[in-house]
Amino acid sequence: MEMLWEIALLQASVLLCVSAQHSSHKIHEGWWAYKEMVQGSFVPVPSFWGLVNSAWNLCSVGKRQSPINIETSHMIFDPFLTPLRINTGSRKVSGTMYNTGRHVSLRLDKEHLVNVSGGPMAYSHRLEEIRLHFGSEDSQGSEHLLNGQAFSGEVQLIHYNHELYSNVSEASRSPHGLLVVSIFIKVSEMANPFLNRLLNRDTITRITYKNDAYLLQSLNIEELYPETPSFITYEGSMTVPACYETVSWIIMNKPVYITRMQMHSLRLLSQNQPSQIFLSMSDNFRPVQLLNNRCIRTNINFSLPGKDCPNNRAQKLQYRAQHSVQSG
Ligand SMILES: *[C@@H]1O[C@H](CO)[C@@H](O)[C@H](O)[C@H]1NC(C)=O
Ligand SMILES: *[C@@H]1O[C@H](CO)[C@@H](O)[C@H](O)[C@H]1NC(C)=O
Ligand SMILES: *[C@@H]1O[C@H](CO)[C@@H](O)[C@H](O)[C@H]1NC(C)=O
Repeated sequence: MEMLWEIALLQASVLLCVSAQHSSHKIHEGWWAYKEMVQGSFVPVPSFWGLVNSAWNLCSVGKRQSPINIETSHMIFDPFLTPLRINTGSRKVSGTMYNTGRHVSLRLDKEHLVNVSGGPMAYSHRLEEIRLHFGSEDSQGSEHLLNGQAFSGEVQLIHYNHELYSNVSEASRSPHGLLVVSIFIKVSEMANPFLNRLLNRDTITRITYKNDAYLLQSLNIEELYPETPSFITYEGSMTVPACYETVSWIIMNKPVYITRMQMHSLRLLSQNQPSQIFLSMSDNFRPVQLLNNRCIRTNINFSLPGKDCPNNRAQKLQYRAQHSVQSG
């Protein structure tokens, strides 16, 4: 029953798609969603992204898609990964925080250049945007999973290769174009100082509705990073259409924290404008994609002296340690 319904919707959407392509490229670019609409017209959810627009076909047929489930037992220690270097020029930055209808998005002012290099990168990459993904409940919200488990959210710092390309849109469709640093979010008593600036009640309530924007000054990007030099890296794609496979992912090996109240405030953001019904932005994540034959590398040297024991490997990971601290 549900299946037939989906096929009918798909056929309808293909027809709509053809006419949309003729009428307006712009409308078409925004024609996707994370979840079914409660009311209103059909909008393609993740499993349809690659089917409704030929420019997005990598979303369906790509072999290096993101996000993925990171199985720590599959990670490979790569001794050639260098430390991640964040270059802010010791300056604070200003930027505008937006409700895009899909994400909380912070875009830095153009005069503030923050670059990252090192890690798996041969080039320096410039920070373009910071995006938040989060769940309607604490057990979900992150795009990447760790050993099958989701976190309550995920912050993604989207950078482009400014040595090879002149802007993020050119870089996003080009080889070695993008670098995304991803940090898991957990709910706790304390809050990350950078996220505190974005998510305190005074600030977050300024972007309740789609297209709301709010200027923030004197932000320190380095405060967003958890205190760990350890990361996991793999080659993947953008997690939104057109799903271009041009992204090097770096997943930091420690989460950052936000308070229960801040998570609650995020769930009160609407995907819609004030004149439309309230539809929570939460659960704005793409489901995990197949790893295929990709390699997941890490700079965590978990090899034990003497012999290489797969069962003992994961125990050196920060996440294991943190889980046991919290539950114990
Ligand atoms: C980032 O790179 C650009 C170009 O190489 C450079 O002009 C700028 O100073 C760098 N930014 C920082 C903060 O170092
Ligand atoms: C990005 O750069 C390309 C190549 O230089 C250029 O054609 C395009 O207009 C630029 N796009 C934006 C949005 O600035
Ligand atoms: C990784 O750890 C092992 C065991 O402690 C050590 O022998 C080896 O030199 C380390 N490798 C690197 C590259 O640090």
